[in-house]
Amino acid sequence: MRFLASPAFRVLGLGVGLLICGFALSAAPVSDGAALYQQNCAMCHGADGKGFAAIKTPDFTDPKWQASRNDNEIAEVIKNGKKGTPMPAFGGKLKEADIQTLVRYIRSFGSSKGK
Ligand code: HEC
Repeated sequence: MRFLASPAFRVLGLGVGLLICGFALSAAPVSDGAALYQQNCAMCHGADGKGFAAIKTPDFTDPKWQASRNDNEIAEVIKNGKKGTPMPAFGGKLKEADIQTLVRYIRSFGSSKGK
């Protein structure tokens, strides 16, 4: 059993350990855009991002809508809500990183159409 005590075996063990850690980290749902959106936004904006005419939510898949807002404006609306509309403020509920993740997720609706 000299091999088990050898430096080569220890290096191998460390490698396998790091690999397992890496998998565990990448599988953890840390600010997953889809999950955040489904939990907080989908009931008003639709799981597909197309919105609902009845409550006047915009169609995030519309390239015209995507072009009409920059990332900062989208982040501001998520943080502070939109006055005079049912769009709530999430600044007290979500972390800045989550809001940025949501901005990217909303952008992803735009790139899924018009290709
Ligand atoms: C209670 C319903 C409701 C929820 C929940 C909600 N929204 Fe909205 N949101 C609205 C409505 C209604 C509008 C349209 C406001 C208007 O008339 O311009 C809107 C508009 C927006 C806009 C466009 C704002 C603009 O510049 O015109 C963005 C971006 C947005 N919501 C993102 C989100 C995100 C991200 C979430 C989840 C974190 C979310 N919303 C949750 C109702 C909601």
